[in-house]
Amino acid sequence: MVHAEMYHLRVCGGPRCAERGSDELRRAFEQALASRGLGNRAAVSRIDGVCHGRCRFGPNVFVSPGDIWYRDVSVADAMAIVEEHVGAGRPVTRLIGESPAFLQLDDDVPW
Ligand code: FES
Repeated sequence: MVHAEMYHLRVCGGPRCAERGSDELRRAFEQALASRGLGNRAAVSRIDGVCHGRCRFGPNVFVSPGDIWYRDVSVADAMAIVEEHVGAGRPVTRLIGESPAFLQLDDDVPW
């Protein structure tokens, strides 16, 4: 994978991902970027008020460029994503949401 100049890490802040800790996760990304000196390599935001239809895998994180969805992301996973994806340009394959179940939208999406 080509190493991007600048990544954007978007933490889903929809209602169910918020219940599962998306704000704490956003802060964990910011802290991980700062602690690894990578604050100039990625921007972090929380997308509020929008559900992405995969609540059962939340909190979910969308990374661009590359259009990669990470699912079930924990605070500990934030450091791995920062070090491996942002720092080295290698997506963390164990966290990528690409299973058929992940790709199918929830039946009861709280749009
Ligand atoms: S609230 Fe994040 S996917 Fe639904």
